[in-house]
Amino acid sequence: MSKFVPTKMGNPMGPILIWEKFHPPQDVRVSFKGQTIIITGANTGVGFEAAIKFLESGAKKLILGVRSLKKGEDAQAKMEERTGIKGVVEVWQLDMLNYDSIQAFSKRASSELDRLDIAVLNAGVSATKYVKSTYGYESTLQVNVLSTTLLGLLLLPKLKTSKTNDFTPVLELIGSSSHTVIYDLAKDGNATPLEVYNKEIYFDPLSQYSVSKLFLEYAHAGLTKVAGTDVFVTSVCPGATRSELTRDARAIWYFRIILFFLELVQRTGEEGSRTYITGTTMGLKAQGRFIRDDHIQDPSPMLQGERGAKTQGEVWRNIVAALKQDVPDIDRFITT
Ligand SMILES: NC(=O)c1ccc[n+]([C@@H]2O[C@H](COP(=O)([O-])OP(=O)(O)OC[C@H]3O[C@@H](n4cnc5c(N)ncnc54)[C@H](OP(=O)(O)O)[C@@H]3O)[C@@H](O)[C@H]2O)c1
Repeated sequence: MSKFVPTKMGNPMGPILIWEKFHPPQDVRVSFKGQTIIITGANTGVGFEAAIKFLESGAKKLILGVRSLKKGEDAQAKMEERTGIKGVVEVWQLDMLNYDSIQAFSKRASSELDRLDIAVLNAGVSATKYVKSTYGYESTLQVNVLSTTLLGLLLLPKLKTSKTNDFTPVLELIGSSSHTVIYDLAKDGNATPLEVYNKEIYFDPLSQYSVSKLFLEYAHAGLTKVAGTDVFVTSVCPGATRSELTRDARAIWYFRIILFFLELVQRTGEEGSRTYITGTTMGLKAQGRFIRDDHIQDPSPMLQGERGAKTQGEVWRNIVAALKQDVPDIDRFITT
């Protein structure tokens, strides 16, 4: 058995989380009247609460992209009961572990929707066990990075054609501030960063999620270039928020201790979802930027300067190459 190799992490977030708990984001209320909005993984957690806000603020059509139609329909019923708004929510099948499902979902969006104003790519996981997807990638990297990038690329054409003189559509990624605690990536011979973190010896349940969200920020920069000036591509973090994200972690004793303390500082789902709304309203200044608690953040150390640009370029190329293995025509979505 190979030896486990931990990833270097710094900047403990504890004090920040305590401060954030008592300073939740502003509950910005804007109108989404007439808009068509997609939100993935909204059957529970922060996405569910964000969906309620889009609904209450006048969305014309709100599509929940969910892997279980049953869970999606249950969520739809709860949303309709809570808001009293019917005939707006639609539940569409989307499995972020399956490229056919992602392609079918985006094809459906381009053919059935007259326009697409906002796409919130919220579905995400934090795996505590090393499990590989059908495509050979560790499941956190698969869902949070590769599949999210694929879905973003496939939805961009529809978002682009929905731009008008008065409105620029938004592709909103759900990132995490935990990416800022990674201050160096492990190296392993000639292996690329994606290959390194896909190896079981580098899988650390404490850092893999943060690495995945760092890679998502590298993908964010790539998607921003592809979007050009036609779509605003942002990444937002809800802050430490109560949800089902840590469902697997409870099986591990040391995670139960961490979660005990984490739960003391977690926000409610409603508070966490506020940043999702803010992120869609910030316009050009949020293009390609990471937003946390109402504010655009400076890039984290791993995204700054020459090293940041070099690693971003490398990881973006790794992601595109990995996607190309299984979705050969992805190139035609990457014209900038
Ligand atoms: N909660 C936090 O403290 C926090 C902090 C920073 C960032 N975030 C990010 O916020 C987003 C929402 O997470 P959450 O905290 O609300 O967690 P959650 O309650 O676990 O919600 C995650 C959602 O993603 C869906 N999902 C997972 N795998 C999927 C797949 N293969 N296909 C389709 N949908 C899938 C889940 O569906 P099922 O119910 O079917 O599993 C669920 O609807 C994630 O991107 C997460 O990384 C959360």
